[in-house]
Amino acid sequence: MDKIIVHGGATLNGSVRISGSKNSALPILAATLLTKEPCIISRVPDLSDIHYMLTLLSELGCEVERASGTVTVKAEKILTEAPYDIVRKMRASVCILGPLLGREKKATVSLPGGCIIGDRPIDIHLKGFEALGAAVLVQAGNVKVLASELRGATINLRSKFGSTVLGTDNVMMAAVLAEGTTVIDGAAEEPEVVDLANFLIKMGAKIEGAGTRRIIIEGVKELHGAEHAVIPDRIEAGTFLIAAAISGKEVTLKRTDPAHLKSLTGPLIQAGLSITSRRDEITIRADGTRRPLELETMPYPGFPTDMQAQMCAMLATTAGISVITENVFPQRYMHVAELKRMGANIELQGSTAIINGVAKLSGAPVMASDLRASAALVLAGLQAEGTTEINRVYHIDRGYESIDEKLNSLGANIERVKV
Ligand code: EPZ
Repeated sequence: MDKIIVHGGATLNGSVRISGSKNSALPILAATLLTKEPCIISRVPDLSDIHYMLTLLSELGCEVERASGTVTVKAEKILTEAPYDIVRKMRASVCILGPLLGREKKATVSLPGGCIIGDRPIDIHLKGFEALGAAVLVQAGNVKVLASELRGATINLRSKFGSTVLGTDNVMMAAVLAEGTTVIDGAAEEPEVVDLANFLIKMGAKIEGAGTRRIIIEGVKELHGAEHAVIPDRIEAGTFLIAAAISGKEVTLKRTDPAHLKSLTGPLIQAGLSITSRRDEITIRADGTRRPLELETMPYPGFPTDMQAQMCAMLATTAGISVITENVFPQRYMHVAELKRMGANIELQGSTAIINGVAKLSGAPVMASDLRASAALVLAGLQAEGTTEINRVYHIDRGYESIDEKLNSLGANIERVKV
């Protein structure tokens, strides 16, 4: 098991390339189960979560080939039962349910267990499958979906926290091969949902309205193979923007999509950072002064919950009182206790964090608890006095491709050591 050692105080400068999106690649790889023909997916990031998905597809009988960032999947003959041992490692495995139900009219997947960031049921996914005519059985820790045929229906996927990203993906993937028209209301509008829809359309699916609250799917008899390049990872890009805001002078992100980051660049400009963008590049300039912020996380196009922890790390040393309210995963504050160990002054009131900016943080041994919390600890370490030792970094490798090397290429001083 590795740990990361961050020597604080370095100034970041230069440019960095953004990888393909984890949260887009995972459902797109699952969607390859919808056809017997080969699918070629490029810009697939090298992450442990991707590795789990490829292992899962192989276990289901797919031929899987990988050559650096390009993955070829051929799902000629497939099984419909996913082994617990893989599913327990990655919640996103749940998004094979839709494609298996759509193509084979049955699927068995172990029910995702507890998650450190909060309660994450899949009741809305299952409600969507039932509306399409499937029977849903939850038994012995497994969820089994079964249908003699699937029929288009009008389904509202709104959750009490807004919409559901993987729920929208799952129901969309089941509906593309259903008889008739499906209307999804309360759909998630995330760019990753649009990317999945674009891939499905290349496979021959009939989908309109992806990226809006209402998606209309006209079922087709079968789908064919296709080629697709995954969109850039907006959360990785956001994490680098905050790294630069905290410890940078001038940093340019290459191969990103500025349009996907408006809900983050807006607040950063409000806080006093200078941000310019053109085509697939964003440049951020920081002069060390920042203003406090008041933010709340919301489904896209609102401020992303997956950037909340990193923003806490920036606001921890921003003079004044900042307030963040977490609406999507109200308990998602595992990083706060660790930031306080580094000297941050943060008070939690229910799902709201009141952050009183301090002049500096001090390096300390800290524990990563989940993917985005671990990114926040790296950002805190960059600006801290002394050395920060982050344990359990396997969390960060789930969602960031070589984050230490990329930050070192900008001038950071980070080591990865085996323990
Ligand atoms: C996706 O998870 C992302 N994961 C998460 O990113 C991200 O935090 C989340 O969307 C929100 O943006 C992937 O794309 C692989 P949701 P997902 O269903 O789809 C409630 C990261 O760091 N809900 O949109 O699982 C749920 O509890 C990860 O990369 C129900 O109540 O999230 C939550 O409060 C972490 N019932 C809210 O909706 C349901 O059936 C939004 O969850 C489904 C969801």
